[in-house]
Amino acid sequence: MTRSGTTDAGPGTGPAAHPTGSGRAPHPWWTQAIGYQVYLRSFNDHDGDGIGDLPGLAARLDHIARLGADYLWITPFYPSPQADHGYDVSDYTGVDPRFGRLSDLDAVVDRAHAFGLRVVIDVVPNHTSDRHPWFQDALTGPDATYRDHYVWRDPAPGGGPPNNWVSKFGGPAWTWHAASGQYFMHTFLPQQPDLNWANPAVHRAFEDILRFWLARGVDGFRIDTAHLLTEDPLYRDNPRLHEVDAAADAEAVYASFEHRHDLDQPDVVDIYRRWREITDPAGALLLGEVGLFTAEPVGRYVADGVLDLAFYFPALKVGWDARAIREVLEEGVTHGGARLAWPLSSHDDPRATQRFGGGPGGADRALAYLALLGGLPGNTFLLQGDELGLDASQLPPERRADPVATRGGGAGRDASRTPMPWSDRPGFGFTTGEPWLPFPTDLDVEHTAARQEVVPDSALARTRRLFTVRRHLPDLLGTAPVEWLHSADDVVAYRRGRTVVAMNLAPTTRPRPGGAALVERYRSSPASPDDGNDIPADTTVLLTSP
Ligand code: NOJ
Repeated sequence: MTRSGTTDAGPGTGPAAHPTGSGRAPHPWWTQAIGYQVYLRSFNDHDGDGIGDLPGLAARLDHIARLGADYLWITPFYPSPQADHGYDVSDYTGVDPRFGRLSDLDAVVDRAHAFGLRVVIDVVPNHTSDRHPWFQDALTGPDATYRDHYVWRDPAPGGGPPNNWVSKFGGPAWTWHAASGQYFMHTFLPQQPDLNWANPAVHRAFEDILRFWLARGVDGFRIDTAHLLTEDPLYRDNPRLHEVDAAADAEAVYASFEHRHDLDQPDVVDIYRRWREITDPAGALLLGEVGLFTAEPVGRYVADGVLDLAFYFPALKVGWDARAIREVLEEGVTHGGARLAWPLSSHDDPRATQRFGGGPGGADRALAYLALLGGLPGNTFLLQGDELGLDASQLPPERRADPVATRGGGAGRDASRTPMPWSDRPGFGFTTGEPWLPFPTDLDVEHTAARQEVVPDSALARTRRLFTVRRHLPDLLGTAPVEWLHSADDVVAYRRGRTVVAMNLAPTTRPRPGGAALVERYRSSPASPDDGNDIPADTTVLLTSP
């Protein structure tokens, strides 16, 4: 395949042809799609250095295709000092040697297309690495060519940081640079200086970056922290919601402010309107990581097609609580509709299995929840390993690698980032070396993909079955509106067309919503004796009504 334009692999050889010219196809390829997050460092290691890489990914794409996913999102593979495991980019158009070469990315794209999978890559526009040549130049002083690519401010009148903004990873959002006598801003680590999106040169640079990757054949972009790019032009203090203990972790300190001035500014969506002019003609997806926790503002990022899709994180924060789940999902459907991506887990949060109690029960509940999400308008999203029912065990403090943990900001995010267990070979088939993060101590052969391939009721088999069933229920794939059904207290249920999706969160059976007959059954737990008109515990059923 040539790398000169769009990713059209031709009829019968991969994804369907992309629209040509400007504008949007009536049913773009991501309509009601299933996305699969590849956390590259932990997916599959080809060269034995203990870190997953692009050749390793290419060798395991069949797993993602057979699962029934439509596309994968690959976490950053760019050259990076890895201060935040790749979310500190020092070259936006290269590949870090740890992960391979540019030709390995090309091979992933080509092979994925041959499997009928689309490839979405991460773009990290809020900040660069402090080693990025732009920042290295900016450090040379106020007159540097790239000084204005970053957010530099003088100290507050009485001295100290220019305002009270705090970093999400702990401490102030400002670091003093003595040599040039100003502070620079960083929403995350000091090694991740924020870019200045008030500078048109930054816009042009990223537009070129998007074009570069589209020309290499990628099918879209997951936009890191899409809500954070612009700030209040006056850099005013954020209102404080409540005092927190000085010893509180970074998340608690961050949550003690109302982030009125440092995120979700009205002008941020203008950036994506412009990006759409670049991605639309290529039929490429813009999927925003909009890390906001109520549905209404998330909805603004997808209203009028600003972004094609936005992740809806309230869906992965909620616990095993029928009322809370119903509320979060209803709100999401109301404000985002088919333009939401519903994540089961992510590399930044505890896995659904863990959130829902851990162990085999947690895995069953996670699958039931996946079935509930899977019937909603929008995209369903898995984190690698969700399909194996992977749990998350906390790592011993000396093996923690996430900067959030190593800086003392809490337990960190390592627990959902442990490597994929592929087989019972040494290193679980992930690596022939020492894995960069240890496998959970209680991991056994039953969790491996190879074993689950041959066990009929494995989490893998049930996840595949769910996706197959979903694909054959036209009500769930079309535009049928969601009608919420209010049945038993512990049941969350909705109807789309003639299809009813109902999840029982109780530890015992509950009646099915009235008038609905079972035609297709998706059980979260292995088959059990006929349950009549009941929904078994921790189970989602797909029903049809007359
Ligand atoms: C969101 C990413 O998912 C997370 O892993 C990263 O630390 C921050 N953005 C900063 O880029």
